[in-house]
Amino acid sequence: MKVLAPATIANFGPGFDVFGLCLAKPVDVIVFKESDEVTLEVEGFDVPSDPEKNVASISALALLKMLNVEVGFNMKLKKRIRPKSGLGSSGASAIGGALAVANVLGVRDKNLIIKAALEGEKAASGSAHGDNVVPALFGGFTILKSLHYLEVFKLDVDFELVVVLPEVEVSTRKARSVLPRDIPLGDAVKNLALASALISALKEGDLETVGRLLDDYLVIPYRKPLIPWFDKVRKAALESGAYGVSLSGSGPAMFALGEDLRNIGKSMVEAFESEGIRAEYFITKVGGG
Ligand code: HSE
Repeated sequence: MKVLAPATIANFGPGFDVFGLCLAKPVDVIVFKESDEVTLEVEGFDVPSDPEKNVASISALALLKMLNVEVGFNMKLKKRIRPKSGLGSSGASAIGGALAVANVLGVRDKNLIIKAALEGEKAASGSAHGDNVVPALFGGFTILKSLHYLEVFKLDVDFELVVVLPEVEVSTRKARSVLPRDIPLGDAVKNLALASALISALKEGDLETVGRLLDDYLVIPYRKPLIPWFDKVRKAALESGAYGVSLSGSGPAMFALGEDLRNIGKSMVEAFESEGIRAEYFITKVGGG
């Protein structure tokens, strides 16, 4: 049994903890076999190989426990999504682990699969946010209306985007710890307006307008000390013709929409490099989950 678990862009501009976009690449690969014992083999990026500490196996074990099934497994995780990159690396492994068990046991209940995956996500990032695991499972663009009683609205969108990945890490745990408990009402209203308009533009396939609506007043302003290069890279993207640009999840990865994605990606990489940070870009498209 083999599961492909895709990278995702959480927040997608104004949709903190609610919006998520599934990407076609990169993907984690999980090869799973039932067994008497529990073993884990990891290759690729460096993540724990202790089954009690690895997000994918924690999620797999969580689903087995929820189902009261006493069976072990041999899991092989090919970790291709860089951890702490902002591309939903832990969310992908979490969904991959839970989905592997679900497929083997014939479980179709998405609520249960997400619940198990959140155990892994929580272990990795300290919080059970769902805007990475949900788009990784459902594909397309997802609006997470509620997590504990799972309610997801999905838009089947199809477009390309450029993702820029700098060689710095931002821990989601840390990026959540800097957020205030209360936010000004005016900022909440601005985000609500942006998020609502963004959904309408996405439904119409108007990517230029989607790009214009990627601002955020709820979290990015408070995260700026962790991403001091953000404004400079954003400016470079806009100056090279991007429709819009934002942070992917809690960063450091950023993404942009536009026509000439190669050119936009190069400008963003140069802006990072002018800050002394090596970066790479890749072009991808919306994934199917
Ligand atoms: N919504 C989460 C956050 C995503 O911004 O903290 C983390 O990938």
